Amino acid sequence: MSNPDPAPDSAAVHDALIRDQFTRQAGIFASVPELHSAEALALLVDAAHPGPDHTTLDIACGPGSVVVAMAKRARHATGLDATQAMLDQARALAEAEGRKNVTWAEGNVYALPFQEQSFDIVTCRFAFHHFARPLAALAEMVRVCRPGGVVLVSDAVASDDKAKADAFNKMERHRDPSTVEFLTLGALCNLFAAADLPVPAQKFFQVPDEAGTAVARSFPDDAAAVLRLFEEAVPGDGMGLNTRREGNKILFAYPAVILTATKPVKPPAR
Ligand SMILES: C[S@@+](CC[C@H](N)C(=O)[O-])C[C@H]1O[C@@H](n2cnc3c(N)ncnc32)[C@H](O)[C@@H]1O
Repeated sequence: MSNPDPAPDSAAVHDALIRDQFTRQAGIFASVPELHSAEALALLVDAAHPGPDHTTLDIACGPGSVVVAMAKRARHATGLDATQAMLDQARALAEAEGRKNVTWAEGNVYALPFQEQSFDIVTCRFAFHHFARPLAALAEMVRVCRPGGVVLVSDAVASDDKAKADAFNKMERHRDPSTVEFLTLGALCNLFAAADLPVPAQKFFQVPDEAGTAVARSFPDDAAAVLRLFEEAVPGDGMGLNTRREGNKILFAYPAVILTATKPVKPPAR
């Protein structure tokens, strides 16, 4: 598996962008019902299938809703994130829900501060598009998962139509400058193969959104320019997000997937 490191400078700059965006987004992001409703969380928890003896880890856990949902069915759930303001939201959520079987860690997905084979289930939702080295992040998830355990990645996917995928990624990088790239379904599945995981099970869902709300949730340099990219995508669904006008609003939906694989008990022969 080879995945060359970016220059340290660019990694440090990107880490700073992540912390800047998500420190500012933390409160707003934690209150998006499409992401944190019981229904949205059940999709992920059902796919990961935690049991009462299981320990779970959610990387890039943000405001902790996935961790708290897992903790309701698992023995213990851990969440890790690079942004302290997100972890503050997570702690507040666990406290509000009276969850004691949770642990929070500040850290980076590329160097998880856990021993090999520490968890039964390792998950990551809506964060791979922020990773400059998605394969390195997935390899870390695999490392800390026990053989026979579950590795789950969920994210929005880019269209197989390259022009639409490029338009989607261009809009997202303008909307949230910490975005690196939304991958296609095929590219996400290729990461599983490169990380020595079997072909993942796939579950599809949509995250409905509205352009003005999406722009207000992040901190773009030029909000008007982002809205123009949405406008331009209405005819012909130019971003592959079913972007459409309804009254004075532009509606769209993120096409998203949950990919789940069991870590092999023995690594495949090479
Ligand atoms: C869009 S939020 C998703 C939060 C959460 N997974 C969810 O679905 O609600 C992305 C999160 O990834 C975190 N993140 C991005 N890059 C990271 C990295 N390299 N290491 C740790 N956390 C990272 C950010 O701090 C942010 O909280």
